[in-house]
Amino acid sequence: MRPPRYLAFSATAVAGLAAGLALAQEDDIFSFIPDGGRTLLAGLLDGNAPEGLARAVATEDADEDAWMARLGDTDLDQWQTETLAQYLAARAPFDPGGEMPRDGRDLALALCQSCHIITVTVTQDRTVEAWLGTMNSPSHIEIEMTEADRRLLAEYLVVNAGIPIDLIPRELRAGGASY
Ligand code: HEC
Repeated sequence: MRPPRYLAFSATAVAGLAAGLALAQEDDIFSFIPDGGRTLLAGLLDGNAPEGLARAVATEDADEDAWMARLGDTDLDQWQTETLAQYLAARAPFDPGGEMPRDGRDLALALCQSCHIITVTVTQDRTVEAWLGTMNSPSHIEIEMTEADRRLLAEYLVVNAGIPIDLIPRELRAGGASY
C-alpha cells in the first residue's frame, strides 16, 4: 500500500507547498484540500487523456483496478490516479460532457462542515472501515448520503486526508467546532 499523501512529503516539499498554498488561499480557502475525481477527470479530458477515456467513462461499469489499468500513464501522481480510479469505479458510466456526479471532495465540502469545521475531517488519517464507522456513528448516521457516497467519501479521505495542521489555513484551525 502506498502511504497517505502527506506522510510521503519531505519537510522541504511541505514548506514549498505551504508557500504555494498561501497564494492560492486568497482565492479559495479550501484549495488546500486535494482535487477529487470529478476535477481530475475534467483536467485529463481537457488535456492529454488516455485514448478512449471519455467513451469508457460514458459506457463502462468497471472496478478500481480496471480503471487504474485504463488510466495508465498520465500526468497525474499516484494519489490522484487512485482518487480518480475510485471515483470512476463508484460513478461510471456517466456522460463526461454533462454535469458530472459528485466526487469525494464535493461530498466532504457539502456534507461535513455544517456541525464542525472541515478540519475535523481532513486532518484525520484513517482506514476505509474506520471512516465508514465514523459515518455510521450516532452523530453522523442522519447525514443524507447513499451507501455508494459513503464508500466514495471514505476512499477519498483515505488517500487525501491526514493533512498536517501546518497546511490548514489559520481560519480553519482550532476553535471551529460548534458541537
Ligand atoms: C449533523 C451534524 C454533523 C455533521 C453534518 C457532521 N458531523 Fe462530524 N461530528 C459531529 C459531532 C456532534 C461530533 C462530535 C461527537 C462525535 O465524535 O461523534 C463529530 C465529530 C466528528 C469527527 C471526530 C470524532 C470522530 O468520530 O472521530 C470526525 C472525524 C467527523 N465528525 C467527521 C465527519 C464527516 C466525515 C462528516 C461528513 C460526512 C461529518 N463529520 C459531518 C456532528 C456532525
